[in-house]
Amino acid sequence: MLKRGVLLAMVMSLAACGGVDPDSPLGKRKAIFKEMLNVSEDLGGMLRGRLAYDEQAFIEKSAHLDALAKKPWQHFPAIQEDERNSARDEVWQEQERFQELARALEQTTAHLVLSTTEPPLNKSVLAVRVQAVEDACESCHTEFRAY
Ligand code: HEC
Repeated sequence: MLKRGVLLAMVMSLAACGGVDPDSPLGKRKAIFKEMLNVSEDLGGMLRGRLAYDEQAFIEKSAHLDALAKKPWQHFPAIQEDERNSARDEVWQEQERFQELARALEQTTAHLVLSTTEPPLNKSVLAVRVQAVEDACESCHTEFRAY
């Protein structure tokens, strides 16, 4: 009875995240990517009027995004996993290019953080920085993500 309950709980927690084990490399990087999306959407939202602009929150979220931008890459295993994922085979076949685009993203988030060090912040500069981050996400997805 107890065993069945534990098993059921496991099955349910797997189902909750689309069948991916949250402790697997895929589960870990998916969680980081999702958080990156949330934070970057908050930043874009604050600049585009979807969310109220809060300078302190913007500064903190920029730092958070910069920290997150360094994290997904270590969770791409050296050998492609069998698990169903939405990464293209090219991630493993063209590692150099993939890593280059990962570094490019890290650079855009570092630039964003540099633009938040001296309040009051200039929103038109921030808009350029956030756009560069979004472009870096998109250029890697275009080459390496299967939708
Ligand atoms: C260097 C390449 C690269 C960059 C840069 C990149 N991504 Fe991704 N992203 C991927 C790949 C590859 C996948 C496919 C999922 C997998 O297998 O890891 C993915 C998947 C995702 C997903 C889907 C996760 C899921 O649940 O399946 C989200 C959301 C996402 N990325 C957001 C972002 C955001 C936001 C940025 C920029 C701030 C970004 N990514 C930058 C390569 C990248």
